[in-house]
Amino acid sequence: MTFEGIDGSGKSTQARMLADRLAADGVDVVATREPGGSPGAEEIRRLVLEGDPDRWSAETEILLFTAARRDHLERLIEPSLAAGRTVICDRFADSTRMYQGLRAPGLRKIVDDLHALMIGREPDLTFIIDMDPSKGHARAKGRNGTEERFEDFGADLQVQMRAGFLDLAKAAPDRCVVIDGDRAPEAVAQDVTRIAHDRLAG
Ligand code: ADP
Ligand code: TYD
Repeated sequence: MTFEGIDGSGKSTQARMLADRLAADGVDVVATREPGGSPGAEEIRRLVLEGDPDRWSAETEILLFTAARRDHLERLIEPSLAAGRTVICDRFADSTRMYQGLRAPGLRKIVDDLHALMIGREPDLTFIIDMDPSKGHARAKGRNGTEERFEDFGADLQVQMRAGFLDLAKAAPDRCVVIDGDRAPEAVAQDVTRIAHDRLAG
């Protein structure tokens, strides 16, 4: 299961709440995140999220995020799934499709081709936490940290990405569920938990 959406939409909060609730209900849960989730991928996370925002081209970022994802998949995700565990991941390939794929014409195809070649799997269930980008941006800005790179892209790109995530949900209705994130965390979590339980039971 993955959580996707623009910065500040509440993915990390919801991923944590879902992991806690499923674990309390006896589900064997692995909670993880991207970029990162394995030691090698966490190193790549630092390379790509810290420092000069113009350090990497969009193409190089696609390679770096996909390299991080491949390591995460090999070291954590696939072994966990093979052991029958439920993996909850805060961001996955849909983030690369949006954050890198929307940056210039032609990049989305590169993201998808590289994904097919090097990752080759999609989540069983993706929660797209949807909300007004200006509200999400204000939330994200409220946090401290050195990982400013993508949050500083600005309002226009966030608006484009919101629309892009909603398009993704339409294109992949079997795995994507759009959740209204502009509500109290508890209200969002109740929807998310119910849908996750239904999917696990089904
Ligand atoms: P994301 O992972 O999507 O960037 P976070 O879960 O880190 O979002 O949330 C961003 C900020 O907004 C955090 O400070 C968090 O406490 C707060 N937040 C998360 N969910 C909600 C919500 N439903 N309502 C109000 N604030 C929220
Ligand atoms: P994250 O820590 O999830 O940020 P946030 O909590 O603000 O949503 O992710 C860090 C940033 O990395 C985020 O701005 C989105 C970006 N990102 C990409 O550009 N491409 C990717 O493939 C992934 C996984 C993340």
